[in-house]
Amino acid sequence: MTQASPAKNTDDTPTVDMKDIVALCKRRGFIFQASEIYGGLNGFWDYGPLGVELKNNIRDLWWKAMVTTPPIGPDGEPLQIVGLDSSIIQNPKTWVASGHVGGFSDPMVDCRQTKRRYRADHINILQPKDGEGHWLAVPQDDDEGISEKRLKKFGKGKSIGAFEATPLPEVNTSDYDKIIGPDASEPGTLTEPKEFNLMFETYVGATQSEDSKAYLRPETAQGIFLNYKNVLDSSRVRIPFGIAQIGKAYRNEVNPRNFVFRSREFEQMEMEWFCHPDDAKQWREFWIAERKRWWESIGIKSESMILREHDRDELSHYAKEGEGTLDIEYQFPFTYPGFGELEGIAHRCDYDLTQHQEHSGTKMQYIDPDDNQNRYIPHVIEPASGLTRAVLTVLCEAYTVDPDRPSGMYLNFKPSVAPKKAAILPLVAKDGMPELATKLYMDLREDMAVDLDIKQNIGKRYARQDEIGTPFCITIDSDTLQDQTVTIRHRNTMEQERISIDKVKEYLTEQLGQMA
Ligand code: GAP
Repeated sequence: MTQASPAKNTDDTPTVDMKDIVALCKRRGFIFQASEIYGGLNGFWDYGPLGVELKNNIRDLWWKAMVTTPPIGPDGEPLQIVGLDSSIIQNPKTWVASGHVGGFSDPMVDCRQTKRRYRADHINILQPKDGEGHWLAVPQDDDEGISEKRLKKFGKGKSIGAFEATPLPEVNTSDYDKIIGPDASEPGTLTEPKEFNLMFETYVGATQSEDSKAYLRPETAQGIFLNYKNVLDSSRVRIPFGIAQIGKAYRNEVNPRNFVFRSREFEQMEMEWFCHPDDAKQWREFWIAERKRWWESIGIKSESMILREHDRDELSHYAKEGEGTLDIEYQFPFTYPGFGELEGIAHRCDYDLTQHQEHSGTKMQYIDPDDNQNRYIPHVIEPASGLTRAVLTVLCEAYTVDPDRPSGMYLNFKPSVAPKKAAILPLVAKDGMPELATKLYMDLREDMAVDLDIKQNIGKRYARQDEIGTPFCITIDSDTLQDQTVTIRHRNTMEQERISIDKVKEYLTEQLGQMA
């Protein structure tokens, strides 16, 4: 048997193509394009029967790690973290105070010829080093070889080495008349960059006016800051403590792409950790280590991730220089050999609470219960990750090519995230086998998510379970009727063993526990 390959290998190409992952997701019911029968809607996705199970499993594991059984702190005591579920639509003043109305935008350029719109900071301008000929606008993230095609068409026979690449925002706008836009056929069609706000707008109530305008939240974090006082006043938490929230967020991304990686509707898992300003640096280090460990615990290999400090020009408006945001990045097939953001761990200082104090007039100071002279606005460390992006990451990591099995691949899910932990398959749909299988199913389903699949050729049913990442298949055959034993097939090795039917639950519980 040849060795199954992981989603990526050590040479310079990923073994897995995103096209295969997208096709699997549709074929097996993980992720569908939203409104598909109407031609879809760019940036929106629906999670099918298995996708929602996978997403819920990841969600529940995060909630458990944060709220139900939070980590043990440096003092040996469990941390205090409580949960929250705040509204998607809040008073619009929230987003003025948070800086999103004024600052949550991307610089955009329009093409007058093609009517297409681009993010200025995602475009490079190829300038001929000899000063002869047109300047060509091409995507920075050029995974489709567009630069080559544009050079062939407009590069006057010069190779890429004869050009110098400059990000569009660094090009003087007086030189725009020399540039041929990314999809244009003539120079001088790009407009000057304009800021485009990413928040979705709506109206609250029956009238549609500036006064009734509201926004869909672009991050779950602000709902936490708005409730910081409520939580302090209603629960027994004391600094340092955290408030965690999982929920939908909306951003009118200019360029949604790479499947669910960057969508317009997505889910976030965010925790705001409120601490004394003097302790913030130490807590940031604590959360970086803790979060990396969590990703490993759900099956992401350490070598598939990197930790990357934001450069000075990437720092958010709230982040503290030198101790600002660190991203945990994953090596996606579409970023390979590079990495893409999975989670940001930011030191937000006292920015948000101070802003809300100023804009709302509500005091956000924390008063130390043991010394009421000790009053301060807490600093915040924020581990913020995407739940829907986590689904994609887990799928990419689990996708394992194996030419030796009929499906050609399997999903190497950790049992904790697998939508189904085991499948029960009667060899044929007669001779009392379906009845025995149903009895076992009814018993097991009380303890774990199991699939009962009665009809079709057994090879096809194994292939389906491999494709959806079910760790174990239990087959009921004619011997079962005689000696009350079943076959257990292991997903990764395809090895089979026979055990007594009344030991199945105990066996699975032990095996799944060992694989956790
Ligand atoms: N409260 C901080 C915050 O929202 P962010 O880096 O903008 O920070 C946090 O978002 C996480 O949310 C990202 O690391 C990513 O996993 C996820 N995310 C952000 N924008 C997304 C999008 N358009 N589609 C899918 N996930 C997204």
